[in-house]
Amino acid sequence: GAPVTADISRLAPGQQMTIEWRGKPVWVVNRTPAMIADIRAIPPAELQDPESQRPQQPPYVDAVLRSIKPEYVVLVGICTHLGCSPGYRPEIGAADLGADWPGGYLCACHGSKFDLAGRVFTGVPAPSNLEVPPHRYESEQVLVIG
Ligand code: FES
Repeated sequence: GAPVTADISRLAPGQQMTIEWRGKPVWVVNRTPAMIADIRAIPPAELQDPESQRPQQPPYVDAVLRSIKPEYVVLVGICTHLGCSPGYRPEIGAADLGADWPGGYLCACHGSKFDLAGRVFTGVPAPSNLEVPPHRYESEQVLVIG
């Protein structure tokens, strides 16, 4: 399939947008400095693949933030368990998720949890981090996926 371009200039800090790529939802989040700090603060032992050792992302993204630029993360919005689309839950300490929830993605189908880098937590059915699709920045404002 052809690459897809997206204008990210209006994506406010903390917000997510969805782009369709090869029939799949691809999320782009403009992560705030607080979100980035929260990602870095998660103890690696709480994550199945904290430094992205498994091939769920291109080699040019950061192993922890899983992105080219710290603020913008690009993720295929499909749970690595059985393919539901997890919900964006960036809020801290959501009551129904326990006090230690740092915010991220929750898959409503079977409860898999991911952080705001798409890294999967331990103790959930999803076996791997969310996929990071191939992508690049054509300019400050234009993201190319594929
Ligand atoms: Fe997401 Fe099962 S499909 S937890």
